[in-house]
Amino acid sequence: GNVRAPPPPPRRPRRVLLFPLPFQGHVNPMLHLGDALHARGLAVTVLHTRLNAPDPARRPEFRFVPVPDGVPPDVSASGDVLGIIGAMNAAMEAEGSAALRAVLEAVLADEAQPPAACIVFDANLLAVPAAAAAVGLRTLVLRTASAACVRCLAAYPMLHQKGYLPPQESKLYMPVEDLPPLRVRDLFYSSSSNHDKMRGLLAQGIEAVKSSSGLVINTFDALEAAELERISAELNIPMLLAPGPLHKLSSNKNSRSSAMDDQDYSCIAWLDKMPSRSVLYVSFGSLASMDADEFLEVAWGLANSGHPFLWVVRPDSVRGSDGPAGLPDGFEAAVDDGRGKVIRWAPQQEVLAHRAIGGFWTHCGWNSTLESIGEGVPMICRPQFADQMMNTRYVVKTWGVGLELDGELERGRVERAVRKLMEGSEGEEMRERAMEFKRKVADCLKIGGSSQIAIDKLANYILSA
Ligand code: UDX
Repeated sequence: GNVRAPPPPPRRPRRVLLFPLPFQGHVNPMLHLGDALHARGLAVTVLHTRLNAPDPARRPEFRFVPVPDGVPPDVSASGDVLGIIGAMNAAMEAEGSAALRAVLEAVLADEAQPPAACIVFDANLLAVPAAAAAVGLRTLVLRTASAACVRCLAAYPMLHQKGYLPPQESKLYMPVEDLPPLRVRDLFYSSSSNHDKMRGLLAQGIEAVKSSSGLVINTFDALEAAELERISAELNIPMLLAPGPLHKLSSNKNSRSSAMDDQDYSCIAWLDKMPSRSVLYVSFGSLASMDADEFLEVAWGLANSGHPFLWVVRPDSVRGSDGPAGLPDGFEAAVDDGRGKVIRWAPQQEVLAHRAIGGFWTHCGWNSTLESIGEGVPMICRPQFADQMMNTRYVVKTWGVGLELDGELERGRVERAVRKLMEGSEGEEMRERAMEFKRKVADCLKIGGSSQIAIDKLANYILSA
């Protein structure tokens, strides 16, 4: 007889498209935002470039759709982030964003999926607004840095006009009057010849925010209330939402942490054997690097500190070396009592949440900063570029949850910084303040908490579109 076709799967009422910038620190928060929206009944489609494509297997409930990125292989191999973003934007904006528009049209025409209501995109993907407008999609911007950083970028023209930028050597410690507690040296600035390129990118990124239906920032009210208020007052955006920390809002435990790299879980079993709050976690994110001399100083500073440490050394952590960085002779013997562990990539959020962790030596990328605060872990800050200096300034000055290790990277100074954080009374005070923030994070994530309200507002906005 006739076999009846199975009933169609229940339709979700609306779909949201997400388009992250293809770097770890940007992809992770975007996918966590997707998790939170999915949990509120939205279907999620992730657009992604071939470069650094996320692993679809880690989120079977999402759809993944490739977008041609047009980045020449030599540029993507160069590791020059700004160059990669520039090439990607140029290719995607070519011919009136034709390629991206075609992808969006195909996605919208897919009748097996609920209708798409809008696209949430990373502010650095400059081709999105025009392509989205051409196919009638509304746009929302996700900024993966702090609210303070958004303010600083919006103030860029003023900072140039008033002579704070480009930074002058003699004025590095001058306070920036309009952006306390920042000093000139804390501003988001690239001293390289690329600066004009970057300035253009930043300005257009702010324009993209202004022309969108809303701006989502990965932060939370109790952390950056004043900055959020100023953004509201200064940028005329219909909807400003702070549903962070997004990795905590996401209930998707299978896809915690990194979307792109394989994490070494052996470190969790190692941490299980260590006393509470005894271990310093050391990681400089997915991009920052150091030269071979500095690498040695870090290694010996850690070894000499006497404190246990878990250190992430990526294959490209040391500049000018092709293969994985070799640890110095004698290093392993110096820490062979099981006191130190070196891995290539950590499940960072699980590591920071582990009771054995007592401190985090970080480059202060925004995700790392939020993840540390969210677990009540105080920090040693060693910023390198972009927003990392201003994140450090807030960590040290505004929130009091860390100390900065600046100047020359030398083993004695490393050792002292580690001791100060891990055994000093100042370190203890920082830890207490960090624990206070951990409680505030828990509050904002409760039902009725500020971040829950923000994400509900976003979900309702999309569902009612
Ligand atoms: C980049 C910029 O450098 C940073 O300044 C900006 O704020 C965001 O984009 P990145 O340098 O990679 O990011 O740092 P960060 O923002 O801290 O993001 C790193 C992410 O990788 C974090 O979510 C962290 O949990 C994850 N990670 C890092 C791991 O999962 N394992 C590791 O071993 C190291």
